[in-house]
Amino acid sequence: MFYTNYGSRKAEDIAANSKVSLHFPWHALERQVKICGEAVKVPTSESLKYFSSRPEESQLAAWASKQSRPVSSRQLLMQQFQSMKEKFSKGEIPLPDFWGGYRIVPTTIEFWQGGGSRLHDRFKYYLQADGSWKIERLAP
Ligand SMILES: Cc1cc2nc3c(=O)[nH]c(=O)nc-3n(C[C@H](O)[C@H](O)[C@H](O)COP(=O)(O)O)c2cc1C
Repeated sequence: MFYTNYGSRKAEDIAANSKVSLHFPWHALERQVKICGEAVKVPTSESLKYFSSRPEESQLAAWASKQSRPVSSRQLLMQQFQSMKEKFSKGEIPLPDFWGGYRIVPTTIEFWQGGGSRLHDRFKYYLQADGSWKIERLAP
């Protein structure tokens, strides 16, 4: 699960093709996890719950930032932040309608561990219809 601006570049990409992959590399350990699956928007109620749990400044930053769009200066960004701070100075800061979460519903997860002489270990998990995982070792 991750939260973002629904107008960001990645959100536009997901709207065009919801098949995604997540990559978690740990170079020092020669280790990585790769997840392939489908990105699904989380219900607004869930986004609201998470948004409300964030620090107030982060909530205002979500309002102030047109994520992935060019911004001419840091000063302009700070002005936008300040104007949101004034706009929402009273009461709860509402959830922006352009902000929320995606849940990645995985279809495969691959664990990769570097080994000597390029003899790496790779294990790929495939989610089955009954909810169990089929596990295969892959050649490096
Ligand atoms: C530690 C760390 C945490 C991040 N967390 C988020 C996040 O929660 N949501 C988000 O949209 N981007 C997050 N980013 C930034 C994204 O990697 C990405 O650069 C950004 O979302 C813009 O992507 P886009 O323009 O392709 O949509 C994070 C980056 C780092 C380094």
